Amino acid sequence: MSEPFYITTPIYYVNARPHLGHAYTTITADVTCRYNRMQGRETFFLTGTDEHGDKIVQAARDEKLTPKQYADKISNLFKMLWPELNISNDSFIRTTDQPHILVVKQILQRIYDAGDIYFSEYEGLYCFGCERFYTERELVDGKCPDHQTEPEIIKESNYFFKMSRYQEWLIDHIKTHPDFIRPERYKNEVLAFLKEPLEDLCISRPKTRLQWGITLPFDNKYVTYVWFDALLNYISALGYPDGARFKKLWPAAQHIVAKDILKPHGIYWPIMLKAAGIDIYQHLNVHGYWNIDESKMSKTVGNVVEPLSLKNVYGLDAFRFFLMRDMVFGLDSNFSEDALVRRINADLANDLGNLFSRVVTMAHKYFDGVVPQPDPSIEQQLDLGLASQSAVALLEFEKAMDRFAFHKGLIAIWEFISRMNKYIDVTTPWVLAKNKSNQKQLEVVIYNLLEGLRFISGLIYPVMPDTAEKMQKHLGQETDKAFFSIDLLKTWNVIKPGTRLPKSITLFPRIDVKKKKETTLKEIKPALPEIKPEISIDKLAAIDLRVGTILHAETIPRAKKVLKLEVDIGENRTIVAGIAASYSPDELPGKQVIVVANLKPAKLMGILSNGMLLAAVDGKNCTVAALDGKVPPGTPVK
Ligand code: MSP
Repeated sequence: MSEPFYITTPIYYVNARPHLGHAYTTITADVTCRYNRMQGRETFFLTGTDEHGDKIVQAARDEKLTPKQYADKISNLFKMLWPELNISNDSFIRTTDQPHILVVKQILQRIYDAGDIYFSEYEGLYCFGCERFYTERELVDGKCPDHQTEPEIIKESNYFFKMSRYQEWLIDHIKTHPDFIRPERYKNEVLAFLKEPLEDLCISRPKTRLQWGITLPFDNKYVTYVWFDALLNYISALGYPDGARFKKLWPAAQHIVAKDILKPHGIYWPIMLKAAGIDIYQHLNVHGYWNIDESKMSKTVGNVVEPLSLKNVYGLDAFRFFLMRDMVFGLDSNFSEDALVRRINADLANDLGNLFSRVVTMAHKYFDGVVPQPDPSIEQQLDLGLASQSAVALLEFEKAMDRFAFHKGLIAIWEFISRMNKYIDVTTPWVLAKNKSNQKQLEVVIYNLLEGLRFISGLIYPVMPDTAEKMQKHLGQETDKAFFSIDLLKTWNVIKPGTRLPKSITLFPRIDVKKKKETTLKEIKPALPEIKPEISIDKLAAIDLRVGTILHAETIPRAKKVLKLEVDIGENRTIVAGIAASYSPDELPGKQVIVVANLKPAKLMGILSNGMLLAAVDGKNCTVAALDGKVPPGTPVK
């Protein structure tokens, strides 16, 4: 029995909605998993969400939800997205799951008892706006990139993990297991990093600063921070330490991540496993980044691509195919709708789609849609290497898929498709059909072409499972999953003569480039927040909106995002408003705005803010809601 195959994606932070990048990694994992299932291996596919930490607390605060409510909401978006993309994960882990929390505590305690976690004072550059420490390298001109303020040096006591103790061991492990981290460029990157002395890892945050985390088992005034929680999901999801899944699947694990989290996975994670006395995982597979029109995907720029929009316009399999075909695993790639359309038209509508409909149409035209019986003696003359070419294509395909070179796997399939087209050109079935004496030759030719299509449908299954099933069905074959096995692709002459074929269909409609150009990205840019749940009219009536005239505006020292306003709403109010990125203080006096007048006062940047302005908010930019004409201050807005 071959070794089981355990594949994982990163568990995604719940501080943002799922986008193209998350979809790519998860589809990649799905493709490898389906491929390994075809190889007859037992597989287990894990994905999930990473839910603790200050980023999530911040995002929840922005939406006026508790961290748990917020995590539930976003985690669910990921969970609901995956079936839409045909992701065949076996499990979905959340770091707020109780069994996970217990495993984190158990391992922390074990490493602490072994003396690899120590308590020490830490001095670092802290940004109060972000509520986190920065390293010198992360700062831009010595300032926090988000707040443009200089961080302060503060001292804090925390728990540290003695990674330095395992540095030599890790270097040796990587060198003696050459494909532990692949592709090679990332292995080299980790080894280069390990040339410098490894700093110990701060693994805690005091509860005075962060409560949304897992309490340390040896000090309840602290929670564990980020990686000690997140990385352990890969074993807690298997029921570590005694679960049957853990016993069967570990350490045959393959992780897939992008280059952004190479260090935690290539350095912290193996060292954590070593320190806890757990076997080291098998492979770390690292891919590059999808950029959009040559720049980084970002909420602020408004170029975040939502996978469902692309699926809805172009179809799921075309989308999955494009992602696998246009990225060389390990390198960055550029996403553009133009490239997607070109790829669909050339490879799917033209090459694959045309071949399929051409062959099935000929089977209907010449044999009434019944698979002909090939005569073995004639078959030898007319094979023309198609069957042996399929064996070559399969070998190439397997070689590529085994090392995550998906684009190469697809190129091997498309080379075979071009062989099939050549076979048609050389055998000219339409000429054979003209003369009854060539009937036996025609039977062999059409039979071989149908077999070739069956072979192709098997090879495309990991990347395009729906299309593969559609093709199988139209070749009169079983469509249950068991049918997609590599063993069946190693044999020729599988389709039974006499099988009745359904009429041909268009697998991929051609996309009219002029009509489609740039429509989708415009539709999905910017990513708009969802409409909030319905409320009753009483709730709306409870909000007292008034017209206000701005009397005075000024900046607040050390606060880059907000302005202090004096506003007349029939009485004078001080309001701290987050509009500094879009308005300067001198353009505001005299402007009439709409104010929420009965909002509970709150202290912001040390100033009691008594009310709030209505504004349209688009990323970092905002436009305050104004009135169509002059109105006395204090007039109700209904
Ligand atoms: N929560 C951590 C991971 C913990 S794993 C133990 C995290 N989450 S994340 O939401 O930021 O996800 C990062 C991952 O999302 C990347 O490693 C990659 O898999 C995927 N991608 C995010 N943006 C991407 C692109 N632009 N392109 C390709 N993949 C990207 O880090």
